Amino acid sequence: MKMCRAQCVLVVVALYVGVVRSWDIAIGVKDQLIFYTNGVKTSSINLISQNPTSLVYDELHNMMLYVDKQNNNDAVCGYDLSSKDNKCFIKRNGRNIQGLAFDPVTEIIFFTDMNERSINWFSLKSGCNNNVYGNLLIRTDSKLPANIAVDSCGGYVYWTHYEGIIESARFNGSDRKVKFSSAWKQFGIVIDSQTQKMFYFDVCSTCSDSHGYLNSLKFNETSEKVVYSNFYGPECRSKIMTVSKDYIYWKNHTESYDSIWQLSKKAASYTEPKEISRINEKILGITAKYKIKDQVQGLQDCDSLTNLLPKLIVSPGYTGEQSNACENYCVYGNCSFNEEGLPKCRCNAGYSGQRCEINVCYNYCLNDGECSLNEEEEPICQCAGDHAGVRCEDDTSDTTPTYDLAKRNLTLADIFSNWRKPSSKMYLTVEV
Ligand SMILES: *[C@@H]1O[C@H](CO)[C@@H](O)[C@H](O)[C@H]1NC(C)=O
Ligand SMILES: *[C@@H]1O[C@H](CO)[C@@H](O)[C@H](O)[C@H]1NC(C)=O
Ligand SMILES: *[C@@H]1O[C@H](CO)[C@@H](O)[C@H](O)[C@H]1NC(C)=O
Ligand SMILES: *[C@@H]1O[C@H](CO)[C@@H](O)[C@H](O)[C@H]1NC(C)=O
Ligand SMILES: *[C@@H]1O[C@H](CO)[C@@H](O)[C@H](O)[C@H]1NC(C)=O
Repeated sequence: MKMCRAQCVLVVVALYVGVVRSWDIAIGVKDQLIFYTNGVKTSSINLISQNPTSLVYDELHNMMLYVDKQNNNDAVCGYDLSSKDNKCFIKRNGRNIQGLAFDPVTEIIFFTDMNERSINWFSLKSGCNNNVYGNLLIRTDSKLPANIAVDSCGGYVYWTHYEGIIESARFNGSDRKVKFSSAWKQFGIVIDSQTQKMFYFDVCSTCSDSHGYLNSLKFNETSEKVVYSNFYGPECRSKIMTVSKDYIYWKNHTESYDSIWQLSKKAASYTEPKEISRINEKILGITAKYKIKDQVQGLQDCDSLTNLLPKLIVSPGYTGEQSNACENYCVYGNCSFNEEGLPKCRCNAGYSGQRCEINVCYNYCLNDGECSLNEEEEPICQCAGDHAGVRCEDDTSDTTPTYDLAKRNLTLADIFSNWRKPSSKMYLTVEV
């Protein structure tokens, strides 16, 4: 796939004043982004844009991505939480961008265009100037695409349609498949790399009371699991939702207010969610700060995301408050402050370095040796085949192993077969 096309341009660049304190979820309303910590509003930002929908947090650039729905001229924009710059990357007059997703590995933003019936992309890689309209990935033909999400570990994009059916494809559009379909319709898809599953709302399209479920589906499985039921009313369609380290969040809507609901990812099916906030504005988008570090915790086979960890900027959103300086500072370890008030790390077993960014097993054992940690948490090697030595550096394949030589009484034949090997140790006992 050609990631970059030589063409223009950023649409708007504007500077804002405002301090974003630490946060765990954020929502988009009328002309604002509002940040919450434990359900309490902690800060907000006024945007020049109107109707910020499809909010997605991009940890790599510490940026809030959203669709600006101003006057039907949909644009995909980003508010940089560190520099406080607001930029719009692509713009589609008279189009209808429904869903937005970001893959930090390739730095690609994917979005659906309901009017054009297409899945599109553009890149945030620096030096990558994008077509101001975005690039076509897939045409969905007769179906209207709705929400979209990425599986950054596997390299797949998943999207829903207003007609039902969840489809998937590789980031370059190849390998397109129907992932799931049923008589019901699916909306508001989000992906949780940690648990290797997607969450979405499954809505009964033929029921007169239009009720729905919150369901989950593993990437490698075909039958869905009910997380929560009992959604009623038109809000069942096009649900606004997000997933974090511990929770799934979504909004729902009554005549007089919108509210944010929270449910533990570990809750048993049909557990009642908790209403954490009510506001007198229409909630247009919601996103959680689900750190990549938490997404890959304990995952063995997600190198694509794990390799990003050392690249994440230290303390995104650092605003001078000491507590924020620890954020992302320790890659594989816990952070605390030293006497000078600077962050310091206590590394998890198997990691070292100032920011615990060095895997002590990385490239430690040579010749396919297997690395593990001893009681002192130092790396040790289990050598493969005919290799030996602390790091399996010795090749002993074409002779008797050296440790044997030391223990045996040698014959003349042993001596002649070993005399050219500088690393071999031999002990001779000469009897006269
Ligand atoms: C698309 O990506 C997959 C996996 O990354 C790769 O195997 C395939 O060759 C690519 N196809 C095209 C047409 O580039
Ligand atoms: C799916 O993968 C998980 C591990 O991630 C495994 O435990 C489970 O058995 C797999 N399911 C199927 C149907 O392959
Ligand atoms: C809002 O959500 C709660 C919890 O999911 C549910 O009990 C209630 O019926 C919903 N209200 C509406 C109007 O959808
Ligand atoms: C880091 O903190 C967690 C949670 O408090 C704890 O379980 C873990 O042992 C700590 N790790 C280190 C290396 O101190
Ligand atoms: C080596 O030879 C000595 C003297 O004959 C003998 O005592 C000893 O047991 C031998 N060692 C081995 C490992 O065969």
